Amino acid sequence: MMDVGRHPRINLYTYSEIEDVSGYIGNFHVKLRKKARYVNEDECNACGECELVCPVVGPDSFQQGFSSHKAIYMPFPQAVPSVYILDDELCLGHNPIACGKCADVCEKNCIDFDMEDEIIELDVGAVVVATGMDVYDPTEMDEYGYTRFENVITSMEFERLISAGGPTEGHFVRPSDQKTPKRIAFIQCVGSRSNSEVGNPYCSNICCMNTVKDSLLLKDHYSDIEITVFYMDIRAFGKGFEDLFIRSKQAGVNYIRGLPGEFFEDPQTKNLTLIAEDTNTGEIKSHEFDTVVLSVGVIPRQDSDTVRQLFTLSRTEDGFFMESHPKLKPVDAPTGGVFFAGCVEYPKDVKDSVTQASAAAARAQVLLNAGDINIEAITSVCLTDDCTSCGICVKVCPFNAIRGGDAKAKTPAEVIEAMCKGCGTCAAECNFDALTMKHFEDAQYTAQIDAMLEGDHMANTVVFACNWCSYAGADLAGLSRLQYPASQRIMRTMCSGRVDSEFILHAFEKGAPIVLVSGCHFADCHYIDANRWTVKRIEKLWDKLEKLGIRPERLQLEWISAAEGRKWANTMRDLEDMRKQVTKEEVEHTMQVLKEEREKAEAKAAKKAAKKLEAKNIPVTAEA
Ligand code: FES
Repeated sequence: MMDVGRHPRINLYTYSEIEDVSGYIGNFHVKLRKKARYVNEDECNACGECELVCPVVGPDSFQQGFSSHKAIYMPFPQAVPSVYILDDELCLGHNPIACGKCADVCEKNCIDFDMEDEIIELDVGAVVVATGMDVYDPTEMDEYGYTRFENVITSMEFERLISAGGPTEGHFVRPSDQKTPKRIAFIQCVGSRSNSEVGNPYCSNICCMNTVKDSLLLKDHYSDIEITVFYMDIRAFGKGFEDLFIRSKQAGVNYIRGLPGEFFEDPQTKNLTLIAEDTNTGEIKSHEFDTVVLSVGVIPRQDSDTVRQLFTLSRTEDGFFMESHPKLKPVDAPTGGVFFAGCVEYPKDVKDSVTQASAAAARAQVLLNAGDINIEAITSVCLTDDCTSCGICVKVCPFNAIRGGDAKAKTPAEVIEAMCKGCGTCAAECNFDALTMKHFEDAQYTAQIDAMLEGDHMANTVVFACNWCSYAGADLAGLSRLQYPASQRIMRTMCSGRVDSEFILHAFEKGAPIVLVSGCHFADCHYIDANRWTVKRIEKLWDKLEKLGIRPERLQLEWISAAEGRKWANTMRDLEDMRKQVTKEEVEHTMQVLKEEREKAEAKAAKKAAKKLEAKNIPVTAEA
């Protein structure tokens, strides 16, 4: 951090928040608010005189509330920049000045009660998002008694208590009586790997090794301390981690496989009794400890939704940000020119965070050095003559890549190609065919459908599969030699969001017995949330089919990921069963109904076009 602070080519903005981001890859405009710290950063030499005379104290959140700080304080030891900050909520009042003692003693006149937030605007080519993580609050896990029992603390609180820069200067004491505990328990997976309503289903990745490290630290400090770790599995999979785990066991740390179910506190001694089953032996035993440390999991930052909106990012079901591709672009965000580093993408330890940060910096550097960028070959294009400026495309674009489309101002839509990622949602949603996609045009799809259903149309099922998940799932099924019927005819779309209702109706009109639209699981869509529009479109189509007397079940929607080869094969088998149940009469009726519908719509459109020409005094010929 100090190196960053001193680096001549790095501008470090601390105590600042990003307010707005506009632009696109290579060309971002960032507006940030540098909050007033009421202390002149350039003048303050951290002498600490102000802190000594300040009469107000408040809880120190950096020390997890175990100690306090004054209203004017140093955020934490080794803070960069090493200058004081005034907490305007704690301060007795600086406008009008109610105390002013800090200003009186400051020889360098650094205190400026009139300081205001500063808005800084920056033009940057790339952005690395490294906003970190929060830790799980175990209060909702009532059985562990956190906040009810004084000597139950979290691993984060433990870190402060054992740290040389902590409130006890590294002398570990239990909260109830400030004595060094003799028996201490660590409970693993608190808030992680949970399949109940509380906690999170994912593994937080860092807690096992954190506990192993903490146990060794305690043994180093207090050789006679008894340490017991209750765990589900110890995941020591990094370089040197297994050795560390073995060292911890050799140092006498007792590992019990099984998590405690009940906690009791002795009201006099404040000691804690835990009832736990050792799942290796099947024995249920009670254990007594002076202090219990809950090894809490990692969660996404509370403000991650704000960051998501600022940079048009997408999140996985766990709430962490989703990378552009897990194998090929693991540090790139789906938005061009944005990269990830650290726990913002998934829980990871320091080493992995540094590795990812280095990769993100290198990716950004490659982009900046290149001068030019290669944009996606598959992007949307607006045919401005057909655009009615209705603005639907602007609304549905997950990347905010479409400008204009303003009916009042009569500005047609304009696709910013550098921002467009080519999901095709705009082309599917446009009611006037004014938006099309390079290499995935409507005519190409309808031609494929015609070819698929040529000859015995009853024998084939039409399948739309998104490139990133379902199509890869089909590949996996093939690679895994999974058997499934060969009657499916698969069409690749970049995203399920590209599947236009017209394609589906066209397939039914051409005699398809069953149509399947498949894509990534919700929150896994590689185009942020484009498949949200797929769902809406399919739901509308189900209603329409029902109204037309066509069984909606003949149109299926399924989410299949790249790892779900088996699900793909099973779905294909189910589709085959459904296909066999569709009768020839049913299909012929569908073809007739949809043909009439299409003809009606075409006649209506022709009438409308003729009216338009008439209004412009252009003679209407039979062809027109
Ligand atoms: Fe698969 Fe959007 S990329 S559904």
